[in-house]
Amino acid sequence: MSKLWGGRFTKETNKLVEELTASISFDQKLASEDIEGSLAHVQMLGECNIISTEDAETIKAGLLKVKEKLENGELEYSVANEDIHMNIEKFLIDEIGAVGGKLHTGRSRNDQVATDMHLYLKNHTQEIIGLIEGVQAAILKQAEANVDTIIPGYTHLQRAQPVSFAHHLMAYFWMLERDKGRLVDSLERVNWLPLGAGALAGTTFPIDRHRVAELLGFEHIYPNSMDAVSDRDFILEFLSAASIIMMHISRLSEELVIWSSQEFQFVELDDSFCTGSSIMPQKKNPDVPELLRAKTGRVYGNLMGLLTVLKGLPLAYNKDMQEDKEGMFDTVETLEGSLQLLGPMIDTMTVNDEKMRQAVNQDYSNATDIADYLVTKGLPFREAHEVIGKIVLYAIENKKFLLELSIDDYQKFHELFEDDIYEVLAPDNVVAARGSYGGTSQAQVKEQIELAKKQLS
Ligand code: ARG
Repeated sequence: MSKLWGGRFTKETNKLVEELTASISFDQKLASEDIEGSLAHVQMLGECNIISTEDAETIKAGLLKVKEKLENGELEYSVANEDIHMNIEKFLIDEIGAVGGKLHTGRSRNDQVATDMHLYLKNHTQEIIGLIEGVQAAILKQAEANVDTIIPGYTHLQRAQPVSFAHHLMAYFWMLERDKGRLVDSLERVNWLPLGAGALAGTTFPIDRHRVAELLGFEHIYPNSMDAVSDRDFILEFLSAASIIMMHISRLSEELVIWSSQEFQFVELDDSFCTGSSIMPQKKNPDVPELLRAKTGRVYGNLMGLLTVLKGLPLAYNKDMQEDKEGMFDTVETLEGSLQLLGPMIDTMTVNDEKMRQAVNQDYSNATDIADYLVTKGLPFREAHEVIGKIVLYAIENKKFLLELSIDDYQKFHELFEDDIYEVLAPDNVVAARGSYGGTSQAQVKEQIELAKKQLS
């Protein structure tokens, strides 16, 4: 098949070379962005009298026909036409004849592909922000229902201090809030138009880049044509924001795996989000959080991959840059898919508040509160810490929890202990006592939830 760039060549392209250089198998995902960019470009060409208005109208009509065929799944891409840009141009020429060849006036695939990528990321970043908000809404719903549910709080995965389960969940709400902030920031750099940079040096035609920016909804225009065609920072920013989001999703997934284990039984994931074992009939496996945890790896890999592709490239465009796409598509799809699952999985999980309470009742996580108790009665914290350490040791040796020691036991360790110690040690009171701003007291958590709701609306 003859190539759009075939004029200079006397031999057919080697088949394997054709396969190596072609990107149509994956960059067909940019088809609608490519048409959108071309529509704006040709509109501008007509307005600037670079081509006749009549030709511009014919080309626009042809592009809209191609778009219609795209939407009806009627386009058959060919590897011989290498990439989405040349495939679309071929479809256009098939549709309207030789006049279609005027579309590429004053443009190169280098500024074209960069524009497509900007348009693609703009759309998907906005979509991802919406999906994150869906997860946040699910977290909020569970948090509101579980302000009074007490769960052991951990450090080093050792029981530390009891917390409200809502407080624990809400930590993820704020992580996701920062994630959205990073995406919004990255849009600032996505919002720059490369088109009009030509292959690298600009163009001899009197184009109007401001008009194209206006038509495509870009706020800024790259002021340097060489930078415009070789910048992939905006993709790297997206990939790194995506990596951080996946890291958060992975941490939450890890908690869900732990919490739904037989040992913990703090939550039960809905049947529709679990799978069984082909051999062990009793199994209900948390495959979804496991896979979300694992998929984080490929998103990190995509970031490292592109950073590495770009690190040695001289200006301006290099074919290496075609390798920016698969990792970006994969990241968008992985992230969107993960967020779509995470929201409903959290929404439908059952919280086993009895198991959580049982856990809290069978540990020493109220030890800090005995120390604080003695401090309130005048003892320096460091001394109190020493006394309580001995009490905990005594309790462990006698196979008792702190609420089970008698007042005589307590008074043996310090004369400041009185009957009100039992009140202080009750888990609900332990939680309620942490009323400092951002703390886990039920009152603080309620305020936090109100703040989060305001933020989300
Ligand atoms: N498919 C190419 C890419 O993704 C488009 C730009 C090709 N430009 C070129 N001069 N070969 O990067």
